[in-house]
Amino acid sequence: MKSPVQVTITGAAGNIGYALAFRIASGQMLGEDQPVTLRLLEVPQSVATLGGLAMELEDCAFPLLHDVVLTDDLSVGFQDCNYALLIGAKPRTKDMQRSDLIADNGSIFAAQGRAINEHAARDIRVLVVGNPANTNALIAAANAPDINRRNFTAMTRLDHNRARTQVAIKAGHAVADVRQITVWGNHSSTQFPDLTHCLIDGTPAFELVSRDWADDDFIPTVQHRGTAIIEARGASSAASAANAAIDHMRNWALGTDEDDWVSMAIPSDEGHYGIDTDLVFSYPVVCKDGDYQVVTGLEVDDYMREKFVTTEQELVKERDIVAELLKPAG
Ligand code: NAD
Ligand code: LMR
Repeated sequence: MKSPVQVTITGAAGNIGYALAFRIASGQMLGEDQPVTLRLLEVPQSVATLGGLAMELEDCAFPLLHDVVLTDDLSVGFQDCNYALLIGAKPRTKDMQRSDLIADNGSIFAAQGRAINEHAARDIRVLVVGNPANTNALIAAANAPDINRRNFTAMTRLDHNRARTQVAIKAGHAVADVRQITVWGNHSSTQFPDLTHCLIDGTPAFELVSRDWADDDFIPTVQHRGTAIIEARGASSAASAANAAIDHMRNWALGTDEDDWVSMAIPSDEGHYGIDTDLVFSYPVVCKDGDYQVVTGLEVDDYMREKFVTTEQELVKERDIVAELLKPAG
């Protein structure tokens, strides 16, 4: 048996946290040979609620669950942390855009970035889920100058999974037949869910579905799926978000399928596909040996370029709004 790794979940008493903790403890994220210590970080008023979650985790008798730490102290929450899932943040209501959350949520990620810099393992892998996720990841990375920026990522896997299912339904195929789909850019309504290189059972997607359908139906459906769920449930997606977080981290840690790629929002420092080099931008990536690489060399036409620019410009605007939080203290 391997030694336990430290997995931090912030906002663990919330809706996503409740859907996530059990799956990590059961081995679905890091594999069935990897014991975990869960470090559950909350605001002081929710630590008592975490006690209930801890009792339920005990009652599952998960063989891989080495320990559970409950805390409202950032230094304890991130102590020696190997994997951090930064979820704790305010969710939006149906009349809001995710970027409307910046004022309330941005500072949370500055403080957590600083704590990660001080207390976490040097090779920590961070997934930001709390919205607006891309810009919050940029804030966390900027406040952790001693940690490789590559290790700060944001979640667009939920959008990727949504896109996969929508095109599978339209084409009359199983989800498992859909490969090489990409979500580019921001986890927001400007994201670009892209079928250009997508294959369905080996056939180019655009031989099975029309470009008009992609423009008029598929892209807006995926872009606005979060809002549709809030309208229907009265609360934002939780189980599907937790599932996407598991998918993101599992692929990053254990690798992607040989003949496919996934979407991850990552620092754009290398400027792939001509994107501004100081954003957290979603790209197609493949993962191997605990690392990710952007899929390069995909042909980009004018149509795609226009979509890239729209979502890139939104991220630049968000970055301008949080400029003060991007300057590490000291
Ligand atoms: P929730 O309100 O149910 O839970 C949030 C939890 O975070 C609460 O328990 C709260 O006490 C805690 N929290 C708040 N500030 C904290 C802090 N500074 N430190 C630690 N914990 C803190 O919300 P939820 O449904 O779990 O959603 C959480 C976030 O995830 C929201 O911002 C939501 O918009 C976002 N989200 C993102 C995606 C994505 O695809 N990227 C998908 C779904 C939800
Ligand atoms: C989602 O995409 O479901 C989440 O980001 C929640 C939201 O605010 O839409």
